[in-house]
Amino acid sequence: MTANKKVLLCGGGNAIHVLTAYIGSLPDCDVLVFSSFPGEADRFREALPEEGITCTNDLGDDMIGKPVKVSDKAEEIVPGADVIILAIPSFAHELYLRLLAPYVKPGVVIGAMPAEGGFDLCARHVLGADFVDQSNIFALETLPWACRIVEYGKTAEVLGTKVEIDFVMTEGPGNNAECMSLLQRLIGRLPELKPACNFLAVTLMNINSVWHPTISYAFYRNWDGKTPFDEPPLFYYGADEYTGEKLAKVSDEVLAIRTAIQEKYPDLDLSSLHHVRDWMLRSYGDDIGDKTNIHTMLITNKGYRGLTHPMMKVETPEGTKYTPNFGYRYFSEDIPMGLCVTKGIAELAGVPTPNMDDVIVWCQEQMGKEYVIEGKFVGKDITSTRSPQTYGFTDLHSFLEANRYI
Ligand code: NAI
Repeated sequence: MTANKKVLLCGGGNAIHVLTAYIGSLPDCDVLVFSSFPGEADRFREALPEEGITCTNDLGDDMIGKPVKVSDKAEEIVPGADVIILAIPSFAHELYLRLLAPYVKPGVVIGAMPAEGGFDLCARHVLGADFVDQSNIFALETLPWACRIVEYGKTAEVLGTKVEIDFVMTEGPGNNAECMSLLQRLIGRLPELKPACNFLAVTLMNINSVWHPTISYAFYRNWDGKTPFDEPPLFYYGADEYTGEKLAKVSDEVLAIRTAIQEKYPDLDLSSLHHVRDWMLRSYGDDIGDKTNIHTMLITNKGYRGLTHPMMKVETPEGTKYTPNFGYRYFSEDIPMGLCVTKGIAELAGVPTPNMDDVIVWCQEQMGKEYVIEGKFVGKDITSTRSPQTYGFTDLHSFLEANRYI
């Protein structure tokens, strides 16, 4: 009899609850949960009921699964893991990779969902190029679900399951097709994992890095910077035509990077990198009421209904009001692990990105950071991003070659 696969989940939030239930329900897998977040592992373990976590989902495939171990100590839980999944905000990827590094075995299948931009650059930097070349590093372009914890450590809910999402895995010792079908089984029958060309295409496709900062920039462009809102404004349904046009222009610039790279390297396949318009149609399909343009798609997509801008409550003499939360992951993740990575690649490829720059410059002001100055990626905070420049790349050829894109 073959031993069960040991699947190590890193984190302890919404996604980890769903994954625990899904993977714990598989008879040939043992789930282990590793959280370094202070107190989280204890809280998770203590909350677990005898039967494990129950997760309801929109497909009607409800799951129940229990971890065999929950720990905050890497040395106790990491050795022997066959598959490692990071389902945490991308700013915590490096921290977790550093904790895992002494205990992971080469040949492991390790990756992130979602990856955001430059996950492979970070993995090469922390785990070492040789380790990465001997292992299967994977990334999902986004989380397979919109999901949330209902009761911590006990119940979770998948509100929406995506139809298909891009997936990438490096060539390692394991059979890629087998690794991919294992991952598909771990996340359930949907969304269907669609192989993307390579990590570069996934990094540039990173939808969150286009969506969240650009929609925020466009929404707040007319705000006076101080008057609080009576209600949290709608994020997607509050978008106007300008927002749709700006999203299209930022996405056009990403495709211009693709064109510039492919002119120099015609054999480099980036065909899984699409315009955000096509991504939207593919990801949400018939959930979209009006497919005329990006603006109409945003405001008629069932999956986006009711979602609001991230806000903080403030008490005023007129009662509770709301001000924008510019510390939210739409900024803290989607700029340094998102749009800045794309901007860094644009710079190596010699592609001007005036629309992307508008968005980054506005976001960096709200975040108190400095990445782009007069169109150049030279601000003092660029080393805290996952851009190629952070890892020492100053020319396109070395960047493509060292990361095995060519
Ligand atoms: P979450 O906010 O529920 O979980 C965050 C977890 O990450 C925490 O429980 C903790 O374990 C860890 N963490 C957070 N900050 C940390 C820090 N400073 N140091 C160490 N660990 C830290 O996140 P969720 O909802 O599980 O999402 C995971 C990822 O998926 C995020 O990147 C999120 O943006 C993305 N995502 C989530 C969706 C959802 O519906 N929940 C939908 C699409 C993407």
